[in-house]
Amino acid sequence: MDTKTGIEALSFYVPELYLSLDSLADRQGIDPAKFSRGIGQEKIAMPTHAEDVVTLGAEAARPLLERTGMEGIDTLLFATESGVDQSKSAGIFAHHLLGLPQNCRNVELKQACYSATAALQMACGHVARKPNSKVLIIAADVARYDRDSSGEPTQGCGAVAMLVSSDPKVVEVEPVTGCFTEDIMDFWRPNYRKTPLVDGKFSALRYLHGLVQAWTDYQAQGGRGYGEFAQFCYHLPFSRMAEKGHRHLAKQAGAELDMARCQPGMVYNRQIGNCYAASLYLALISALENSEEDLTGQALGMFSYGSGAVSEFFSAVVQPGYRDHLMVDRHTDLLNDRTEIDYDAYLALRDTPDPKDGSTALINATTRGRYRLEKIDEHKRHYVDADG
Ligand code: CAA
Repeated sequence: MDTKTGIEALSFYVPELYLSLDSLADRQGIDPAKFSRGIGQEKIAMPTHAEDVVTLGAEAARPLLERTGMEGIDTLLFATESGVDQSKSAGIFAHHLLGLPQNCRNVELKQACYSATAALQMACGHVARKPNSKVLIIAADVARYDRDSSGEPTQGCGAVAMLVSSDPKVVEVEPVTGCFTEDIMDFWRPNYRKTPLVDGKFSALRYLHGLVQAWTDYQAQGGRGYGEFAQFCYHLPFSRMAEKGHRHLAKQAGAELDMARCQPGMVYNRQIGNCYAASLYLALISALENSEEDLTGQALGMFSYGSGAVSEFFSAVVQPGYRDHLMVDRHTDLLNDRTEIDYDAYLALRDTPDPKDGSTALINATTRGRYRLEKIDEHKRHYVDADG
């Protein structure tokens, strides 16, 4: 019998500070409804200089590991396009902060916003081959665009941690998937740039094209019919993009449009903004935690898109008792207990150059998290654990 594989537990983390999109609209002289309704976003989560993908990712993973323990974890896959080093995986810093076993492989994956899906599929393959093992996936990103660009209101940051095992208490990931790769320049970030170059309108069109192509391949591989999905979770650069995707897919499948089948997945993203590799999995948490109906036994349609571009459509089946393994209270507190910053504070945070070797003063920011970047000394990043 094939081993059942999927997600045993999952959690997210978002830092304390945020900018309201009303403040951005006010400063740019734009009707706030363009952001709240036109792109469907409310807040931009902002990291301080003491926070990066390592600290965000470790914060997401800590409560999950406290609940499940670390036994059996033999692999850490860190998915990000905001890496802190060109050679060393962000996962090794996170591995140390979390106190994971040393007989654990560790690698960072990148393909724009898609890499966490590659990590999930690889993790399921690994666990199917070695059912006593578990894989910790951390997806974390900081989405930053040029000032006053069309992408600026879609910024955000955050991290999702997922434990993949042969005891998937939350969702089973089904083996049939549909993939599509094409070589395009819709969004990319050369090594010498801090912000990406983006052809916004083109990227939105390619997202829709990728969705149709991945769905077509999913169908050709013997996937489920459209009507079998109780909810759809989409990669969320901003929530209106996924609404357009949902409409497009219904049309492609010749099905009746039901927006209620994608809305629960968008609740958290509106409050956080894009977090690239983590976005689809933030949508999954949001769908599970915000759907009023009991999703037990129901199939979820999952669409992953990473510019450049790779698309994948796959399915996940919600497991009996899944609600006992969610972290709704923690996530609600993380979103509610935040501090709004004004536009000037936002500019100061984003325009101050990133810390370099010896620039300790910049990193003196307080964080609400347990982990922080303390200093860069001799070009080495030093992270501290406030409890450790
Ligand atoms: N009230 C209500 N709605 C309003 C409004 C108002 N006052 N003013 C404008 N709108 C509406 C517009 O009618 C438009 O609606 P439709 O999309 O239905 O036509 C919507 O608000 C957006 O307005 P614009 O088309 O003028 O938006 P824009 O050009 O300023 O920005 C964007 C859109 C180009 C996609 C921009 O957000 C962007 O560059 N984003 C970054 C790239 C991105 O996220 N691409 C998505 C696909 S790529 C991907 O998914 C990977 C990734 O994560 C980056």
